[in-house]
Amino acid sequence: MADSFWWQHGVIYQIYPRSFQDSDGDGVGDLNGIRARLDYLQWLGVDAVWISPVYPSPMADFGYDVSDYRGIDPLFGTLEDFDRLLGEAHARGLKVILDFVPNHTSDRHPWFLESRAARNSPKRDWYIWRDGKPDGAPPNNWISHLGGPAWTRDETTGQYYLHSFLREQPDLNWPNPDMRAAMYDVLRFWLDRGVDGFRVDVIWLLIKDEALRDNPPNPGFAPGQPAIDRFLQRYNADQAGVHDVIAEMRAVLDGDNERVLIGEIYLPIERLVTYYGTNLRGAHLPFNFQLINAPWTASDIARLVRDYEAALPQGGWPNWVLGNHDRPRIATRVGEAQARVAAMLLLTLRGTPTLYYGDELGIGPVIIPPEAAQDPWEKNEPGLGLGRDPVRTPMAWDASAQAGFTAGQPWLPLHPDHATRNVQKLRDDPASLLTLYSELLALRRQRAALSVGTFTLIGVQGDALIFAREHGGERLIVCLNFGDREQPIALPDLAGATLLLSTHPDRVTALTNLTLQPHEGLVIRRA
Ligand code: GLC
Repeated sequence: MADSFWWQHGVIYQIYPRSFQDSDGDGVGDLNGIRARLDYLQWLGVDAVWISPVYPSPMADFGYDVSDYRGIDPLFGTLEDFDRLLGEAHARGLKVILDFVPNHTSDRHPWFLESRAARNSPKRDWYIWRDGKPDGAPPNNWISHLGGPAWTRDETTGQYYLHSFLREQPDLNWPNPDMRAAMYDVLRFWLDRGVDGFRVDVIWLLIKDEALRDNPPNPGFAPGQPAIDRFLQRYNADQAGVHDVIAEMRAVLDGDNERVLIGEIYLPIERLVTYYGTNLRGAHLPFNFQLINAPWTASDIARLVRDYEAALPQGGWPNWVLGNHDRPRIATRVGEAQARVAAMLLLTLRGTPTLYYGDELGIGPVIIPPEAAQDPWEKNEPGLGLGRDPVRTPMAWDASAQAGFTAGQPWLPLHPDHATRNVQKLRDDPASLLTLYSELLALRRQRAALSVGTFTLIGVQGDALIFAREHGGERLIVCLNFGDREQPIALPDLAGATLLLSTHPDRVTALTNLTLQPHEGLVIRRA
């Protein structure tokens, strides 16, 4: 592994800071809480944490509306707390990745206050202002990703400003060189403090069509879909100019590739891979969300893995994401039994895995009563099941009243079975998903074939997906049963092979006449 970077052989763990660990009893997680749980992360065996935004924010979108890029919101702590967390994480060999939110600021950011004050404000052009149509309608038909029009008319100057998300999140105007320079200084500010990289929020939206043309209607739109799907995202996303911006960001992260640039990108594979950039000078890791959206069958997963491997540019490093703070949790999507197979898939595919806090406990559906809803998307488009609160509920640590998350009232309810589904309980249970995660992470660390090895798709047999990982003479075979029935597997030359790990702790080896149990996955070492 000496010839790979940490963000290639390592595993990333996403922390939604409001919900990881509260240290001061206000019901919202914070930086000192995360620091108190570093032992756990080290025990689990991850290599890096990505922390969703902790900057000062009015919290209209829970931190994705930043009002100061160089500070820490008092809800989460102080800059000193951050430095302490970073220092202690580094002392344990853990990397820390921050969330960088460059597409928009909060409407309370001093830049926006200045920009909105007058048409001739020096910062007017830092945001996207336009006159309305002659009849007073918004400049074009673009829709906010969180519902409603993407334009709001501002009384002070009578012009509209663009917001791809909430009206409290005005979009920055990336063609403006002064604004760009100011944002790159923000990156330097955190790099100088020692952070190990950035996950860049909605990176594929940064540049818009110069003429701000109307988006074409989406012929596939059906009622019940979010409003953003009414139109095809032709002119508000994935514009050619975005790659120059990303290359500039990349250049700010110095040349040694020890600091990672990750891009949040929801695009089809052939567009996604362009974000590695010309000569790989784009994002190190354009987030690959295919496992989040894919139909969960062996043949569908086989196809998408094959297509992704084939589409990667020469030298481009793959990555896989199983869940995040915006999409339904894996155990909700595939069920509790299959979540074990998903864990093994994530941690044995070729490419950097990102796992989402709480998924290692198998947290499933959480019902949020309407009066407890927090997510602005749920409030803007209620009843469509779009709300992201159910995937942002507090982490469960033990069997105490609020599962050890807080001494106060948690900002969102815990999952209903937290008294049994918590770290303390599951850690001691050899059959738990948490134990499986820790074993998979340990195996991945021990066996370079799993992290930096080559990948060969062997094939699909019934409900089973079978592939090989190879490195330095070691050949591992991974067999995953996506079905709920027994699945016989035909593999030549398993003589002398050893079982390294099964998702089913009760398996007694028997690799001859191999039959997978329902929802079983295996890692086998060939002789
Ligand atoms: C990203 C974030 C999401 C946020 C949006 C606006 O998609 O992951 O949580 O609402 O950007 O910043």
